[in-house]
Amino acid sequence: MRDEMHSANGHVATEALDASVSLPPIVVETQGLKKTYGGKIAVPVLRGIDLQIRAGTFVAIVGQSGSGKSTLLHMLGALDMPTAGRVLINGVDLATLEEDELALLRSEEIGFIFQFHHLLDELTCLENALMPITIRHGTETEEQRARVIRLLQRVGLEPHLHKRPGEMSGGQSQRCALVRALANAPKIVLADEPTGNLDSRSGKEVFALMHEVNRASGVAFVMITHDDRLAQAADRIFLVENGVLQEVEKK
Ligand SMILES: Nc1ncnc2c1ncn2[C@@H]1O[C@H](COP(=O)(O)OP(=O)(O)OP(=O)(O)O)[C@@H](O)[C@H]1O
Ligand SMILES: [Mg+2]
Repeated sequence: MRDEMHSANGHVATEALDASVSLPPIVVETQGLKKTYGGKIAVPVLRGIDLQIRAGTFVAIVGQSGSGKSTLLHMLGALDMPTAGRVLINGVDLATLEEDELALLRSEEIGFIFQFHHLLDELTCLENALMPITIRHGTETEEQRARVIRLLQRVGLEPHLHKRPGEMSGGQSQRCALVRALANAPKIVLADEPTGNLDSRSGKEVFALMHEVNRASGVAFVMITHDDRLAQAADRIFLVENGVLQEVEKK
């Protein structure tokens, strides 16, 4: 079959060869994504963004304050809707989904981490980390609980499982938030300055753990950061500037 293609048409042969190199699937894609904030004076923030992120890739998003990084991340996570253009998660156009389907996608496919951990004060570290599972399923199975405990152990939180956020450091809380983001075994984690509120050592630790999870489990990470050294450790770096996205060469 391959030989026939070669002799019949060079182009077809190239396509056949390309198809045989199995790249990981595209998990996050935007096409001509635009976002304008309304009001009397329209403020165009994103002016047309085309992005493709494959499974298992660690992506850093950089750019000046106010350039639109969080705006972009919110749309990737279906927390906000674009003014124009499309967002596809695992090939599914978010615009085609009903609100309950979007909620399901947010809870099953995507994990979120923000600058502030947003853990619930009255719950323990373990209960907080289990939260996405309890929200989704009402209660957790033994297996799910064991998995979350394993993740908490992996990020060094075993001694703190039953502490409340008020009794944990910023770095410990953020590591708990990382596990919470992974609780439902998402394929994509969206992180908005996850180390922005930490001292540089805790920030590096949290980042190293995100990297480790990325390498071990193939979860794609999209992380906004103002820290150039962290960005340089990502697989790909994108700069948001003047409403467009451009890939930056790593140093
Ligand atoms: N809900 C909103 N309504 C109106 N304008 C908004 C809204 N959210 C953000 N903006 C504006 O959009 C622009 C981009 O904001 P965004 O939060 O995406 O920036 P950012 O790159 O994440 O900045 P930072 O690094 O400071 O977090 C800013 O000018 C901001 O004022
Ligand atoms: Mg932001």
